[in-house]
Amino acid sequence: MEYIKWSDELSVDNLIIDKQHKELFRLINDFYKAIVEKKNEEAIKKAIVDMENYTRTHFSSEEIMMKNADHVDLEKHLNEHKAFIDKVRDLKERYNQGRLILSLEVTNFIKEWITNHIKVTDQKYKGKI
Ligand SMILES: [Fe+2]
Repeated sequence: MEYIKWSDELSVDNLIIDKQHKELFRLINDFYKAIVEKKNEEAIKKAIVDMENYTRTHFSSEEIMMKNADHVDLEKHLNEHKAFIDKVRDLKERYNQGRLILSLEVTNFIKEWITNHIKVTDQKYKGKI
């Protein structure tokens, strides 16, 4: 069973963004799997880096589209993206320094944040970008 699962209610009616959100879900599932299957440190680090990098790529393309469409809530939206990136970077650094044990609490935070962000914040540009 998938840990974080895509559903049609998450669609923002933009094929590129929907595709990127699905890819992000795939990487979050990989990260979750790496933890629950107790993969080696290198595999876990790779899962975090892949997820972090793709999140950055995805956020920048979403931001470009919102800017091009003069999206009203742009600044608030960008702040949310930045806060999430900072949080993921912090988790990664603490893990790399041996100061954080990755647990379901960590994966749940990421899952809840992304799902909530797509359901609430991203929906505001639905049909407009
Ligand atoms: Fe977003």
